[in-house]
Amino acid sequence: MVTTTAELAEDEDGRARFDALIAADQRIEPRDWMPDKYRRTLVRQISQHAHSEIIGMQPEANWITRAPSLKRKAILMAKVQDEAGHGLYLYAAAQTLGISREEMTAQLIEGRARYSSIFNYHTPTWADMGAIGWLVDGAAICNQVPLCRASYGPYGRAMVRICKEESFHQRQGFEILYELSHGTPEQKQMAQDAVDRWYWPSLMMFGPSDDASPNSAQSMAWNIKRFSNDELRQRFVGMCVPQFEALGLECPDKDLRYDEETGTWITGEIDWDEFAAVLDGRGPANAARLRHRREAHDDGAWVREAAAEYARKQHDSERVAV
Ligand SMILES: [Fe+2]
Ligand SMILES: [Fe+2]
Repeated sequence: MVTTTAELAEDEDGRARFDALIAADQRIEPRDWMPDKYRRTLVRQISQHAHSEIIGMQPEANWITRAPSLKRKAILMAKVQDEAGHGLYLYAAAQTLGISREEMTAQLIEGRARYSSIFNYHTPTWADMGAIGWLVDGAAICNQVPLCRASYGPYGRAMVRICKEESFHQRQGFEILYELSHGTPEQKQMAQDAVDRWYWPSLMMFGPSDDASPNSAQSMAWNIKRFSNDELRQRFVGMCVPQFEALGLECPDKDLRYDEETGTWITGEIDWDEFAAVLDGRGPANAARLRHRREAHDDGAWVREAAAEYARKQHDSERVAV
């Protein structure tokens, strides 16, 4: 590709404007000039986030038909449906950066894209619905509230709506666990076991320390990321401690303590080998999640064809009417 002098000057102007907007903590919009790396970083982050919402429907969908009451079923269905909506807002936000929905879907079902490792764990009991809502959606809120101020406009705006719904998800999870932990001894044990299963993976959701996260510094400089992984994990642990007490459940981290001097929570050792293995496709449910997503995509082919044909006919009849 030949770049002309006029194009170079335009790029210079664009870059100066981009830098000024970032420095003033303003938003970058789809038609604004942006560095290639900024665009690629956002496409990667937003599409991974969208995939996580979509794959994240599976562990909970597993319980829709077995929820213990009509009320619980209605709540769980609404929650899982919200997650589908989150996936759609986020795919739409990523599309404004020039990648198609088809390409993102292909990356996911062909195993070329990542999604949050947390969704590769199984949900053997009803209490897992409580633990996911309380811990996984709770960790997601800590991660996502600062993203409402992300410098890329469509991403930040999508996150505002998503965060409102996430706080409902977290409350419903807490409420499921509260009922169980105040029920029979067996129910309380079921709640404890589920929390034991999900606590450590939910701490891993924040990712390794930032020293080990190569993209963190650049994302901070671009106002995409506002806090370090460790700062967000601290916030999450601080939020969980009084809630464990309210639930009457034990925190599985026996080494957890608050250090008055530094004002930080000291946690036990997080098993980063487990995190790496799950991320690498070797978690308990990775294969099942992708297989299920691939099958759903194939099964939905006729819906996409019918929708495209309907849109084509609508378009044709509008042209005739004009
Ligand atoms: Fe969500
Ligand atoms: Fe959620």
